Amino acid sequence: MKEKLLEKFKELYGSADGVSVYFAPGRVNMIGEHTDYNGGHVFPCALTIGTYMAVKKREDHKLRFYSMNFDSLGVLESSIDDIKPEDAAEWTNYPKGVMWAFAGRGFTMDCGLDMVLYGNIPAGSGLSSSASLEVATGFMLKQEYGFDVSNIDIALIGQYSENNFNGMNCGIMDQFASAMGKKDNAIFLNTADLSYEYAPLVLDGAKILITNSNVKHKLVDSKYNERRNECETALKELQEVIGIKTLGDLSEEQFETYQSAIKDEVRRKRAKHAVYENQRTIQAVDALKKNDIGLFGRLMNASHVSLRDDYEVSCEEIDVLAEEAWKVDGVIGSRITGGGFGGCTVSIVKDEAVDTFISQVGAAYEKRVGKKADFYVVDIGNGPSVL
Ligand code: GLA
Repeated sequence: MKEKLLEKFKELYGSADGVSVYFAPGRVNMIGEHTDYNGGHVFPCALTIGTYMAVKKREDHKLRFYSMNFDSLGVLESSIDDIKPEDAAEWTNYPKGVMWAFAGRGFTMDCGLDMVLYGNIPAGSGLSSSASLEVATGFMLKQEYGFDVSNIDIALIGQYSENNFNGMNCGIMDQFASAMGKKDNAIFLNTADLSYEYAPLVLDGAKILITNSNVKHKLVDSKYNERRNECETALKELQEVIGIKTLGDLSEEQFETYQSAIKDEVRRKRAKHAVYENQRTIQAVDALKKNDIGLFGRLMNASHVSLRDDYEVSCEEIDVLAEEAWKVDGVIGSRITGGGFGGCTVSIVKDEAVDTFISQVGAAYEKRVGKKADFYVVDIGNGPSVL
C-alpha cells in the first residue's frame, strides 16, 4: 500500500522524497449502539482496514489533496489561510475540518501540505471511513507539526470537527475506536467520562464476521440527528422526575418506573433503547470476561431487535441479513452495527459454520433482496501509525 501511495505522490507532485505515510483504522462495534451520545457504554474494535495518507510539507500555505478513491475529482486545492466547509471541497471537508479544529485549540499550521490518500473501507459500509480519515489527519498533524496532543485528544478533535465543520452530530465512539485501537482487543468505553478498558476478543473456536449489505439509504445524517434530538427531549422529560445527567444513568427498573414522564410514545421507545442497550453492553462485556460467549451472542441479537423495533434505525435489507444469520447453525449472535439505515451486520460464528454462513446468508440475501452481500472475517487491528 505504502509503495502505491508513494508512486502516486511522485506522479502528481514530482517527487516522493521526504514523504511520510500514515494510517488510521476503521472500526466495527460489537454492541452498544446509539449509546455514545446518551452517556452509555460502547464496545467497538479497530479494524485493519482504514485510511492511508502520504504527506509532505510545503514551503507556502497551499493545501493539495488527492484521493485514489476519487480519481475523477483530481487534485483539490485550498489554503491553510482559508479553511471553511464548502460543497465543492467534497471529501476534503473532513481533513480540513480537523485542521480547523486544531487551529481552534491554538495548534496552527505554519505551512501547507501535499497529500495523497487511499481508503480501503468499503464506501457507505458504516465501518467509519470518515472517523478513520479524521484520526489519520489528526495523527499526521501531530507528527508533522509537533502538536502536543494525545490519541484521546485526536479522537475528541475529530468528533468536534465532524459535529461543527461537517454538521454530523456523531458521538465519540468511532473516533475513539480508531485512535485508541489495540490489536486483538475491543474497547469497553464509558462515554460519560471516557474511562475505558481493553478486553481481549480472540474467540476460541469462533470468528467475527462482517456482512456488508451494500446498501446505504438516503438521509442517514438527518435521521441520525433526529434520533439524537428525540433522546435529548426524552432526557429533559425524565429529569423533571429523577435526578439523572444522561439516559446512561438509568437502570432498566428505573426506566420502567419513570418512563411515563416521557410524553410521546416514539420518544419513549428511543429512550428505552438507549437505557436497555447500555445495560446490555455492560452485561455483554461481563459475559465475555466470564467466557460466556453464548450470552454475549444473545445480547447481540437482543440489541438488533431493539434497534429494529424501538430505535428504528435498521432497514429491510439489514433485517434480512440478521434473520438469515440467526437461522444458521453455529451462529452465536448477529446484529446491525454502526449508525444504521444500511451498512453492515456483525456476527459471531463458530469456525466450522463460517463457510455455511457465507453461502447460506449470501444466497438468501440475493434471493430476498436481489443484491449481493460481501463477507469479511474481522481482524482486530491497532490505532494510528506511521508506516
Ligand atoms: C455512528 C456515529 C457514532 C455512534 C453510532 C451508533 O457511527 O458516528 O458516534 O453514535 O453511529 O452507535
